[in-house]
Amino acid sequence: MSQRTCLSVILAAGEGTRMKSALPKVLHQIAGLPMVAHVVKAAEAAGASGVALVIGHGADEMRKTAAKFAPEAETFVQEKRLGTAHAVIAARAAISKGYDDVLVMFGDTPLIDADALTVARLRLAEGAAVVVIGFRPPNPTGYGRLIEKGGKLIAIREEKDCSEEERKIGFCNAGMMAVAGAHALKLLDAVDNKNAKGEYYLTDIVEIAGAQGLDVVATEASFESALGINNRAELAQAEAIWQQRRRHEAMLSGVTLIAPETVYFSHDTEIGADTIIEPNVWFGPGVMVASGAKIHAFSHIEGATIASSCDVGPFARLRPGADLRNKAKVGNFCEVKQAVIEEGAKVNHLTYIGDARVGAGANIGAGTITCNYDGYSKFFTDIGEGAFIGSNSSLVAPVTIGNGGYIASGSVITESVPDDALAFGRARQKTIPGKGKELRERFASAAAAKKKAAGTDH
Ligand code: UD1
Ligand code: CA
Repeated sequence: MSQRTCLSVILAAGEGTRMKSALPKVLHQIAGLPMVAHVVKAAEAAGASGVALVIGHGADEMRKTAAKFAPEAETFVQEKRLGTAHAVIAARAAISKGYDDVLVMFGDTPLIDADALTVARLRLAEGAAVVVIGFRPPNPTGYGRLIEKGGKLIAIREEKDCSEEERKIGFCNAGMMAVAGAHALKLLDAVDNKNAKGEYYLTDIVEIAGAQGLDVVATEASFESALGINNRAELAQAEAIWQQRRRHEAMLSGVTLIAPETVYFSHDTEIGADTIIEPNVWFGPGVMVASGAKIHAFSHIEGATIASSCDVGPFARLRPGADLRNKAKVGNFCEVKQAVIEEGAKVNHLTYIGDARVGAGANIGAGTITCNYDGYSKFFTDIGEGAFIGSNSSLVAPVTIGNGGYIASGSVITESVPDDALAFGRARQKTIPGKGKELRERFASAAAAKKKAAGTDH
């Protein structure tokens, strides 16, 4: 089968009114990736080398998203929504290129897995002309029913057109199909719109192919993988299923999740084996964690790279460009953005490191702030290897702290500090013996005099 070429036609022209959104339905995200991009990924994983995206509502936004997430996809506009068969025909130019297999998929079915598609393609390779992907929803109401006879699929009957008997069938049309490329356009062009809704139904190709003596079969996919999203409650349901699958996969690949149901992955999160993730950790897009790292509870991480044996959190916030090298530590209530924390460096408490490099083995004291922004531009702070930054220091960028530089606590550092130098950026302490007692007595008698004058001395 590997030699067979495959085109995926993804229907995404619908408006999705039940989402109650300005955004086209299929651009709503699951794990940070638009639904339609999940569908494209599944098609590609099942071997599709061509992707035809049929768009209509929100065409401009759809094109932009396609360019970003599926640059290889060709877009086709279905001007009027005249039905699913009509929508597939909008991609006529792609279908007529002569692919062996044509997979028809829906942009609002984001959990479809490559296996279900691969099984359908296998049936084409065995000689079927049309393979319909079926499923058994807990409640079949509203779905087209699959009418089978002797192992062949003879018809798909939409709910409205079903007899009392047919309505009892639990095996339903998930909507997706695999069609032999050699027959696809001929079958689609034979579909008419003589039905209650006046639409061109893709499902009609089942009977048309049967009448021509072609082989038509159904395969079965899981309910979850065929879940269509129509509103935000279903979107959340799909997100939950996606997260559950991903957590399972992560654990089987050697990642410890102490409370898996509280950890949220992004579509592209990569985590190495023997990394331990405590409860309530959120991964945004673009995170790579190597092996043997520890991510403590309540950390929020996006666009960050975390090398082996790093220690992050609890309550750490790693923003895009945070790059933690081996054994680096970023502790509680620390924020790191666009900064390299080199091997073994420690940023442990209540600190902001932005637009910076923290050299290997450096120690950043509690409450240190890199002052990287003047309201207009961002500036860089370079902290050398083995430097020690005393607590509650402000490093006003651009500024360099040399290797082994030592900064006194509470400093405001505005000038660069050479290697191994000590820098104070604060007033020296002054101590006056006995002055504390004297002040206390003076303040106490002043307060007593005031109360007496007001007559409230009781
Ligand atoms: C379709 C199936 C039904 C199946 C169900 C599964 C048909 C006729 N019926 O019904 O058997 O059980 O899916 O969810 O196929 N679209 C377009 N252009 C159009 C019409 C539809 O792009 O002109 C897109 C929609 O945006 C949607 C998909 O095709 O993503 C399915 O269309 P929809 O109208 O939702 O079909 P259903 O009535 O759900
Ligand atoms: Ca639908």
